[in-house]
Amino acid sequence: MSQFDVVVIGAGPGGYIAAIRAAQLGFRTACIDAGVNKAGDAPALGGTCLNVGCIPSKALLQSSEHFHAAQHDFAEHGISVGEIKFDAAKMIERKDGIVTKLTGGIKFLFQKNKVESLFGRGSFVGKNGDLYQIQVDNKGGKTVVEAKHVIVATGSVSRPLPQTAIDNVNVLDNEGALNLTEVPKKLGVIGSGVIGLEMGSVWNRVGSQVTILEALPTFLAAADQQIAKEAFKYFTKEQGLDIRLGVKIGDIVSDGKGVTVKFETDKGEMKSETFDKLIVAIGRIPNTDGLNAEAVGLEKDERGFIKVDGDCKTNLPNVWAIGDVVRGPMLAHKARDEGVAVAERIAGQKPHIDFNNIPFVIYTDPEIAWVGKTEEQLKAEGTAYKKGISGFGANGRALGLGKAKGTVKVLACAETDRILGVHMVGPMVSELVAEGVVAQEFFASSEDIARIVHAHPTLSEVLHEAALAVEKRALHG
Ligand code: FAD
Ligand code: NAI
Repeated sequence: MSQFDVVVIGAGPGGYIAAIRAAQLGFRTACIDAGVNKAGDAPALGGTCLNVGCIPSKALLQSSEHFHAAQHDFAEHGISVGEIKFDAAKMIERKDGIVTKLTGGIKFLFQKNKVESLFGRGSFVGKNGDLYQIQVDNKGGKTVVEAKHVIVATGSVSRPLPQTAIDNVNVLDNEGALNLTEVPKKLGVIGSGVIGLEMGSVWNRVGSQVTILEALPTFLAAADQQIAKEAFKYFTKEQGLDIRLGVKIGDIVSDGKGVTVKFETDKGEMKSETFDKLIVAIGRIPNTDGLNAEAVGLEKDERGFIKVDGDCKTNLPNVWAIGDVVRGPMLAHKARDEGVAVAERIAGQKPHIDFNNIPFVIYTDPEIAWVGKTEEQLKAEGTAYKKGISGFGANGRALGLGKAKGTVKVLACAETDRILGVHMVGPMVSELVAEGVVAQEFFASSEDIARIVHAHPTLSEVLHEAALAVEKRALHG
């Protein structure tokens, strides 16, 4: 029977990174993963993120943005391109190529770092002294490996909607939404969260008429509401996304004619809409399916997450859990950094993750990004703050890009000037937010950002101006 110092279950961004870091630190490491490629005929490492999440969605967002720009934006640059056609199957093929390249890259990294990659479903069997026994099941049979340390990184799956089953033909979860080879004329989306907005944007840009049905009365409730409201206007008024808030979803019937959704509006009216395809994106739930956590007494909380402390320690000695299967935001970078930290803790190091300093990004156009506290949170906790706001409207780089819209807001402590939150909607703010993260990590003040030299002409000058505006000394405001 093979014995390892560390066995990781799951090779998503949490698990594969944990395995690589553990191997780098000198541990004999194996990583068990059950993921298969789109064709279902070969293992595919990388988990949700690489196969059916972050990476493929960003590939489609880029393709659809190019198509939209060619249709609507090129003319003002003096470029005429004649008849513009869109080939959804080709867009999906490009996306699949990126996925294959990256999932293959992890296989290479495992070989390079001497991580043993075991294909199959991993489940706890029991213990042999201090060692945990984990069974690996695949079509070839079952094997059992033993490990001193186990890192559970089994991720998450889409939250089901009781009214309908996902068939990924007409009623789609993220997998189906990423694989449509024809543009649906009418696309319905349930949930105006991150997936709803990103996938709704993709298909809207290439010609679908998109309706998003959201249960909450507030749009993007977790985001700073000034930024969320501005984004809502762009999405609905300029881009034509039909986002209906405060709806209650009733019966859903999928037949040969389409998918009919009955719902009650925020005004109490009963409505019914028929869509060619329906995406269900109402959140994700932790995945402990088939893990057989009970065999060793691994505890979960009432929502099914594996219980961990701030260091990702479970209730069992030497068993750790990271990423989407534990508390905290379901984000690839959070999973990755927990993976690194756990491997280092096993090696006796003392890494630290600041959970208050995790950036959030929504890759719509304009993008939305933030780090730290929102104004609503600061008000609720009674923290006195100052704010500085600046817009992209007169920023030279944004005008050159043809993307001169959006806002950056810096929130700083009224007493100490320490930055408490940075919120943005605008072009490439997915990249700009990193400056806010670094600033917060180093306890920077708004004055620090105001005094740092920002290149000209860049989008980062808008953050600079917002920081200057905190003390009411913006130069272009
Ligand atoms: P996962 O990536 O879910 O990986 C878990 C792995 O474990 C899978 O390969 C699974 O097959 C395997 N597994 C499960 N059980 C077992 C078992 N018993 N035995 C063996 N293997 C098992 N996050 C971002 O930060 N940025 C984004 O832009 C972004 N976009 C997203 C877009 C979409 C459409 C979706 C769905 C998600 C997106 N996310 C994004 C979220 C991100 O994908 C997750 O937060 C991240 O993948 C979580 O990583 P993980 O390692 O915890 O789990
Ligand atoms: P989400 O939590 O972002 O949004 C789900 C939305 O569905 C919420 O607004 C919720 O109020 C709504 N909802 C829930 N039940 C409903 C119902 N019965 N009827 C109507 N609306 C309902 O979840 P989503 O979009 O499914 O994404 C899952 C997770 O994946 C995200 O939370 C995020 O962690 C991750 N993700 C991250 C991305 C990024 O970082 N750019 C991109 C995509 C996903």
